Amino acid sequence: MSELDKFKRFTITSALPYANGPLHIGHLAGAYIPADTFVRHLRLKKKDVAFICGSDEHGAAITIKAKKEGTTPQEIIDKYHYQIKKSFEDFGIAFNIYHRTSAPIHHDLSQEFFLNLYEKGEFVEKETEQYYDEEYDQFLADRYITGTCPNCKSEGAYGDQCEKCGTSLNPTDLINPVSTLSGKAPVLKVTKHWYLPLDKYQPWLEQWLLEDKKNKWKPNVYGQCSSWLKSGLQPRSMTRDLDWGIDVPLEEAKGKKLYVWMDAPIGYISATKQWALDNGKDWDLYWKKQQSEEDNSCLIHFIGKDNIVFHCITFPSILHAHGEYILPYNVPANEFLNLEGDKLSTSRNHAVWLHEYLEEFPGKQDELRYVLTSILPETSDSEFTWKDYQARVNNELVAILGNFVNRVMILMHKYYQGEVGESAGKLADQEIKSQLENTYNDVETAIENFKFRQALSIVMDLARFGNKYLTDKEPWKTFKTDAEATREVLQNCLHIIGHLGTLMQPFLPTASKKIFGMLNFNKEVLSYDEEITFTAGHKLNAPELLFEKVEDEVIDRQLEKLKAKATAAAPAQVEVAPAKENINYEQFLAMDIRVGTILEAEKVAKTKKLLKLKIDTGIDQRTVVSGIAEFFEPEAIIGQQVSMLVNLEPREIKGIISQGMILMAEDADGKLSFVSPTSQTGNGSVVR
Ligand code: 2FM
Ligand code: ZN
Repeated sequence: MSELDKFKRFTITSALPYANGPLHIGHLAGAYIPADTFVRHLRLKKKDVAFICGSDEHGAAITIKAKKEGTTPQEIIDKYHYQIKKSFEDFGIAFNIYHRTSAPIHHDLSQEFFLNLYEKGEFVEKETEQYYDEEYDQFLADRYITGTCPNCKSEGAYGDQCEKCGTSLNPTDLINPVSTLSGKAPVLKVTKHWYLPLDKYQPWLEQWLLEDKKNKWKPNVYGQCSSWLKSGLQPRSMTRDLDWGIDVPLEEAKGKKLYVWMDAPIGYISATKQWALDNGKDWDLYWKKQQSEEDNSCLIHFIGKDNIVFHCITFPSILHAHGEYILPYNVPANEFLNLEGDKLSTSRNHAVWLHEYLEEFPGKQDELRYVLTSILPETSDSEFTWKDYQARVNNELVAILGNFVNRVMILMHKYYQGEVGESAGKLADQEIKSQLENTYNDVETAIENFKFRQALSIVMDLARFGNKYLTDKEPWKTFKTDAEATREVLQNCLHIIGHLGTLMQPFLPTASKKIFGMLNFNKEVLSYDEEITFTAGHKLNAPELLFEKVEDEVIDRQLEKLKAKATAAAPAQVEVAPAKENINYEQFLAMDIRVGTILEAEKVAKTKKLLKLKIDTGIDQRTVVSGIAEFFEPEAIIGQQVSMLVNLEPREIKGIISQGMILMAEDADGKLSFVSPTSQTGNGSVVR
């Protein structure tokens, strides 16, 4: 009996994706493939599961996209909601419902939640000064304000977070804030908001999370939560001055909207309500505390690591404050998936988009599911490469699983016209039986501990076992001398194939169906407890290849495409920093920019980002401290020509006097490149 077997019901959620763009492989690997595998596993155990998801259609992500595309938020959400929904269907992500947060039922429930907490007096009401764009006549969402990060001093930090150093910020922390709407400095204006007192819930969270979830939640999740709690929680505003979102249901808050993280997770509940309405179910059973604790549903949120704080701290606090709802049993968040040595990036179009993949690899969703499951970023970031995709499909799916099934099917047809004999019935071979039993147990344990990579490799070990058994028994030799014993060997293999089909269902639903089809089972889905038996005279269907080899040209084309996409996307999609005020020609001439060469480079002790450089400026040799250590190894840049502002007042940085500044180009993702002459140029040459 596994730990999860004590639950009668399961409420499984996957993060609601923002309806502001198509899905890519990073989405699948983060919150959808693991959830779908888990849910399919539970369903094969005949558990009562509600698997819930939908589009997140509020928040700055949507309005920023609408502004970029010169259209309305409504058009954006309508366009992407359906595209995203289709991608999930195409990849077999088997939600019970894929809902949307623009639905009235969701607006109503979010307002109900807000009012429930409001009437209990949970919110702290505060008047604060917030940034306002006078030209656009509106308060600015955190993401609409950029400026210099107070922590790492890099430009372009957002009002809620610096993406360079990861520090979480308030807009007023930014140095030299600028509105991304008008490009002007915003002004501070007084406004009232309703804050969730996370500081008040801190002692409760310390018990519920730090104590009760210790050694139960994944270390990457638990670690992030405990560091948030250790640094002390602050009240967080649950309302915003915005014009897109759910109205705050208070007369005195006219024109204000709910903060997107006050509404999005409630989307899980409203989607369940809608599903229950559509299917004659009782939604309370999946969300509300029942009379006795053992009747409560088991709530699990599958998410990516950027959502941990909202699912482990904010949302549970809201549920706790409300009082009638269950809390998450686990939040098995994944880390990030990278692509070909670089972060997945929408703005640089550095991604494998799901709809494009299916256009180019029609019918091959299981191949991508397999590869992504094999490399899921379960404990740390992981990486997708096309070469690895090719290797895993060819050397594992084709050479191990496909090959085993195909060999057995072909021999059965060749020797016995695809007909099983008297001896098929139930499996008698003890070695195979115990191998199967171990496989079922180990797969169950791995999946229920959210170790999907391990679970998949255990199933593949069964295919390896089958291949070895077949090779050892050499039916192609024994057939001539003992046709009946040979038939028994092949029929033992048919049993293994049947179980492979069953065990593969959570991972490769399409291939499993194909297996059941070849075996001529009259079912498309087999639960774990279903016996695999063959009656004498049972006819197998014709063999068909489960997987095809991926040729080099196909992979080369994908690599070329990635390169071309990145180049084409770069100029159009870069998030351009707002223009600065004009300066006059004299001010420009006042800057003395020269070509120089790096002579020496070393890391500045106890810093992550700083290098101490010695530069030949043509005028002299001098020391400059530069924040480029994350992008360049000191040894690699000796001899590099640079452009350098040589008449910047010397500044002391970490106890070193820095005499000037190296000019760097910074792209939308914060990647730095040197600004240097295209051919060797004398040190001291003037740049103008
Ligand atoms: O980060 C995101 O993509 C959010 N849209 C996730 C929301 S999850 C939930 F709470 F709805
Ligand atoms: Zn920073």
